[in-house]
Amino acid sequence: MSDSPKLTRRPEWTALEDHRAGPFLHAHLRELFATDPQRAERYTARVGDLHIDYSKHLITDETLALLQELATATDVFGLRDAMFRGERINTPEDRAVLHTALRAPRDAVVEVDGENVVPKVHAVLDRMAGFAEQVRSGKWTGHTGRRIRNVVNIGIGGSDLGPAMAYDALRSFTDRDLTVRFVSNVDGADLHEAVRDLDPAETLFIVASKTFTTIETITNATSARSWLLAGLGGTAQTGDGSAVAKHFVALSTNAEKVADFGIDTANMFEFWDWVGGRYSFDSAIGLSLMIAIGSDRFRELLDGFHLVDEHFRTAPAESNVPLLLGLLGVWYGNFFDAQSHAVLPYSHYLSKFTAYLQQLDMESNGKSVDRDGHPVEWQTGPVVWGTPGTNGQHAYYQLIHQGTKTIPADLLGFVNPVAELGGELASQHDLLMANLFAQGQALAFGKTPEEVRAEGVAEELVAHKTFKGNHPTTTILARELTPSVLGQLIALYEHKVFVQGAIWHIDSFDQWGVELGKVLAKRVEPALTEGADVPGLDSSTSALVATYRTLRKK
Ligand code: F6P
Repeated sequence: MSDSPKLTRRPEWTALEDHRAGPFLHAHLRELFATDPQRAERYTARVGDLHIDYSKHLITDETLALLQELATATDVFGLRDAMFRGERINTPEDRAVLHTALRAPRDAVVEVDGENVVPKVHAVLDRMAGFAEQVRSGKWTGHTGRRIRNVVNIGIGGSDLGPAMAYDALRSFTDRDLTVRFVSNVDGADLHEAVRDLDPAETLFIVASKTFTTIETITNATSARSWLLAGLGGTAQTGDGSAVAKHFVALSTNAEKVADFGIDTANMFEFWDWVGGRYSFDSAIGLSLMIAIGSDRFRELLDGFHLVDEHFRTAPAESNVPLLLGLLGVWYGNFFDAQSHAVLPYSHYLSKFTAYLQQLDMESNGKSVDRDGHPVEWQTGPVVWGTPGTNGQHAYYQLIHQGTKTIPADLLGFVNPVAELGGELASQHDLLMANLFAQGQALAFGKTPEEVRAEGVAEELVAHKTFKGNHPTTTILARELTPSVLGQLIALYEHKVFVQGAIWHIDSFDQWGVELGKVLAKRVEPALTEGADVPGLDSSTSALVATYRTLRKK
């Protein structure tokens, strides 16, 4: 049990409350910029290839100093060091939290219970690289001797979102002769659409599940096996079971369950319980991505992660970027009552980036009890949302600009389009990025009634056409979207989420909140399939089940 004072009773917290209520907040970003010509320069940071402008935040030097004091008081760096040392900081689950070991260089030493885990990590990476090379070169053939041309990853949550997001992000680095798809939803339509135009003889399924008990994944994998065996000239019952060995591999921590499913554990790529599901994408879970981009590119991605790990581990508080971003999130969430945080990538390739961050952030920090099991009396993780600009501009940006909510936003963009784009399409990039810069500007500085009037707008429309501005944004730029840059970006967000969890004194590494729905779905399913009586079902759910059964086609 912790005997440290409650977060909101700490003097560092109340100092921030006083600061929030103080005079500076009456200063608009327009004034903060006007009175400080160096502001953009002073409030710009660099980590690796990332250029981070945080000048358009509702902060002064004093705000930053007070936030830093809160970080010191809550011992964010103490928890960080314990994480990197391999201590069991995921206390409710009694586990170490060592996704950083997944990208540690070969000669690093990271110990869990006295054992250096780095050699194990690299042994699996080497096996993955060997396997990926065999698939890419055509040496790994299917049951009928044909080369593999299609790879279908079956997994959900952390066993899907990372590789699916990164496959899109790094599409221009992928082997375009391979078809790579991701199936996660237990809705049979997902698997149907993924395989309907594929030849089973040329298809490899990668079943990705840390626990290998997740019902969606096991159900889809079972259906995929039937599809494969039927497609190879049999049925799940009569088909040649040895085909499974050539068309199914598993990524898991649970060898026993993998064997029970019928996948030879020789075809299993392992990881460990100190890798959380939503932090697992650098582990064997990345196999589909490695097949798509090749092992050298995959290692560049890991190096990008590691670069930011090292920055987070060693940079002093004043220049520690994940710490800074975490503190800014706390500033808005706890002192401005901001309920959400928008992540708006100006890159089509990052279409799934925000969805990936949703699990990372919301499954980590969506908590309402603290590390000691006490209810928290402060806001914890925000709702994370967003889609690529410029599409969002024509949909929901209206609410960010003129709505009533405080929505801090991250604007992500790249100076250059991917090398594959040429000619006219490459030249569209300047327009794309002009939109990013314009949005940051409009959100921060808005448009005053005087400016609107000066345009000759009729008085009754002035209020409608005024933009209040003062909306905080972080702009993150990189030269181009490479595997390393993607790794850097993800690690930046991982550590930002860590910082916030540390300050809020919650465990960012368990996810008990997803359990209840799973248990209830298992209880309700027999009512749908067999009309079974489910004891204790409430009247609303009971009536819904009855309607479902009446309308369900036999
Ligand atoms: O949704 C809960 C969860 O446990 C996630 O944390 C995890 O990423 C996902 O399910 C998938 O779990 P598994 O990899 O064990 O199939």
